Amino acid sequence: MTARITIVGSLNMDLVIRSPRIPQPGETIIGSEFQTNPGGKGANQAVAAARLGGQVSMVGRVGEDSFADALLENLAAAEIDATFIQRDRQAASGVALIVVDDHGENIIVVASGANMRMTEKDVEAAEAVIADSDVLLLQLEVPLPVVKRAAQIAQSHNVTVVLNPAPARELPPDLLALVDVLVPNESEAALLTGLPIGSQTELEKAASKILNSGVRSVVITLGKRGAFLASSDYKSKIYEAFSVQAVDTTAAGDAFVAGLAVNYGAGKTLPDAIRWGNAAGAMAALRFGAQTSLPKRIEVFELLKGEKPEKILGREA
Ligand code: RIB
Repeated sequence: MTARITIVGSLNMDLVIRSPRIPQPGETIIGSEFQTNPGGKGANQAVAAARLGGQVSMVGRVGEDSFADALLENLAAAEIDATFIQRDRQAASGVALIVVDDHGENIIVVASGANMRMTEKDVEAAEAVIADSDVLLLQLEVPLPVVKRAAQIAQSHNVTVVLNPAPARELPPDLLALVDVLVPNESEAALLTGLPIGSQTELEKAASKILNSGVRSVVITLGKRGAFLASSDYKSKIYEAFSVQAVDTTAAGDAFVAGLAVNYGAGKTLPDAIRWGNAAGAMAALRFGAQTSLPKRIEVFELLKGEKPEKILGREA
């Protein structure tokens, strides 16, 4: 079954410099390569979901600049329905400044531009598309009232709501109560709960606090350690990550969320969907950039079957 996924979220142009390390405040260092890559958590998750086999629509806002043209072309290349992406004359397209170090770690600062000018009307206009979806996928790079309105519409049509609460921020209980699957990383889960995240016991405590707020299932991503699932339907457990030599972790989290959403939306169990998410995230870390790094379904399938990542990428001698 093909999952129908609607994403309400951001589109950014990523301006990326490779650097030997992340600079300290006030420091200037000489980096190396510079790239301009399509990004934004919403668009990354949309492209990842499409490459992983989903039928994808995106609701969002861009400016009337050349970045917008490139961002929309990239969605079109992935066969994503962009009917409900507005062009805003009053604002520039979102931009993210990114530094990636030699270990594949990054720092990111976003100038949201048109993304933060989305309104509840933008999602109300897309109600029929949301209603016709298996999963509504949300992040926090657009205004919170927009996220909440989209989740309300989805819930009223029995559409599964998956929220990736990134970038980290506190969330109102009435939004959490609309969420079926919450997918925070460790720092987002710590901020949401006010609790430390590390050991299995700490994960259990934080997850149970999140579940008490009305979320049906929580999946806390743990980077190299994998992902922790807590839900009333399954025994709490860490699902191990695939071990890869990361080149750039930008959008690895987005690939995880999309892998989970596409497979859960297609009727797989949450543990199976998490395994797909782990494999999609690992494959995304092997290539540079955001949307440039997102894997195809066949690549993720091969990793899940036990193929070596280098062989999948065709890098093995
Ligand atoms: O999750 C990675 C993304 O975060 C980047 O593509 C950047 O645009 C920011 O939104």
